[in-house]
Amino acid sequence: MRFLLLLALPGCAQTLPAGADEELRTAAAEVDRIEAATLAGLDSTTRDEYGRMVTLGKLLLYDKELSVNRNEACALCHMPETGYTGPSETLNRTTVSYPGSDRARFSQRKPQSYNYSTFSPVLHYNELQGDFVGGNFWDMRATGLHLQSPAAEQAQGPPTNPVEMGLPDIACVVYRISRRPYRPLFERTWGAQAFVIQWPADVEKVCSTPAPPPSPNPVRLSAADRGRAMTTYDQMALSIAAHEGSTEVSPFNSKYDFVQAGKAKFTVQEKSGYDLFRGKARCNECHRDGGPGEEPLFTDFTASNLGVPRNAAVAFYGESKPDPSGYAANPAGASYVDPGVGGFLQKSPELSGKINPNDLWGRYAQKFIGKFQVPTLRDVDQRPRPDFVKAYMHNGYFKSLKEVVHFYNTRDTLRRCTQGDPGEKTTCWPAPEDARNLNRKQLGNLGLTPQEEDAIVAFLKTLTDQYKPATSTGGDR
Ligand code: HEC
Ligand code: HEC
Repeated sequence: MRFLLLLALPGCAQTLPAGADEELRTAAAEVDRIEAATLAGLDSTTRDEYGRMVTLGKLLLYDKELSVNRNEACALCHMPETGYTGPSETLNRTTVSYPGSDRARFSQRKPQSYNYSTFSPVLHYNELQGDFVGGNFWDMRATGLHLQSPAAEQAQGPPTNPVEMGLPDIACVVYRISRRPYRPLFERTWGAQAFVIQWPADVEKVCSTPAPPPSPNPVRLSAADRGRAMTTYDQMALSIAAHEGSTEVSPFNSKYDFVQAGKAKFTVQEKSGYDLFRGKARCNECHRDGGPGEEPLFTDFTASNLGVPRNAAVAFYGESKPDPSGYAANPAGASYVDPGVGGFLQKSPELSGKINPNDLWGRYAQKFIGKFQVPTLRDVDQRPRPDFVKAYMHNGYFKSLKEVVHFYNTRDTLRRCTQGDPGEKTTCWPAPEDARNLNRKQLGNLGLTPQEEDAIVAFLKTLTDQYKPATSTGGDR
């Protein structure tokens, strides 16, 4: 409890909760192990073009050198054993967000899973539905406009995000890649020109200074070399997306998929959960299990405001004062309200990275304040042990699938209470983080019995990939 109080102090320097340091070190060691094993296996994995592309993406995703302090790979916040979200139970329980390469800086949201993220279409406004569809990130801000792949465009954010990998210039990412043992694989995949860049003498020094830089593009390059660095950065991003969409990360081989293929059977409880999911509980209206010509991705790539309560433990609230290098991630401090998709549409300056690229979209901003993208439910229950705690929703307010389903069921029928009430999450709910554009139609009073809630949870557990059907019965494990 003690660190929670610390976190609540406005402007207080952020410290890692007790235990998280150890868990992050364990995860970082696993990241290194995976990187080394991937490098060692290149002869067998890079025989065809597919293998070269997705293996290159994997080497980039598990490379700590692509962060300013050489301590943070993408994968640190997206590990396989938790369905490609955060691997630290302590952080999932507390700050929800993960520290960056500078361990005293945290971002504002829960790491989304990056499995199946490549299946999201380029963000577009569907006039007839009156809705935005596609993009990556909770607020859809990785639109995919530039590379025509939201997931690739997403991968261009973290390396230079001050609260994530923290390099001061995309040229630094390219420079660091050029020093890595997988450089030949990169050149074989994308061409010998990739790293033909005249680096300035001070490149090492500039690239060891954390973002944000005093002025944009601190690595001094000729205009042509700057252009080449940008192209190589695009190619890095496309390789990363290729790995995310590969059969290793997005394999469509959960028990659910086996059942659909007639190669396994749901238990009675799972079947009842699936029927409720598609019927009385209305989950399928947003977490779609597919249709003609549509993969069962368990999202429709739109956004909604479910009225999830504020999570006061999110570390971001405490980042109002400049840190030792003069950077304040969240000048608004505890009064910050996450604007979701609306923030991106109104070109909200507090969001790092991308701003809305389409002048026509600003007019929809007010209608999308407080809305977050519908995430896939695939691998939502994947965890290293049954009692390992994961956080759910953009702010990680929920700590179990049971809590999530209970919320959908009873948001509007239980009494309103303040955070910390003994009945919170069972007999009462705090107010929404932001009540604007609240979805009042599809959730809040589903009339599910406790047994029905449990059945839906049982169904959600069938969405975990790498299911191994029992060979003799063709049925349950
Ligand atoms: C410090 C932790 C952290 C690191 C490092 C990190 N991420 Fe993430 N990732 C997050 C968070 C938090 C989100 C959600 C952010 C948001 O919506 O604003 C996210 C979202 C994503 C998504 C969006 C998924 C979707 O369905 O929309 C993808 C893809 C992703 N990350 C891939 C990457 C890649 C690739 C890298 C490295 C280049 C990376 N991440 C590095 C924390 C991290
Ligand atoms: C109106 C559309 C809609 C409906 C209906 C809906 N969801 Fe969601 N779901 C969302 C959105 C949007 C989010 C993310 C909201 C946020 O983070 O604030 C979400 C998030 C989740 C998450 C968290 C996933 C994660 O990675 O953090 C789970 C689990 C979930 N939903 C399960 C369900 C179940 C089970 C049902 C049916 C009882 C259901 N949803 C009905 C839109 C919907």
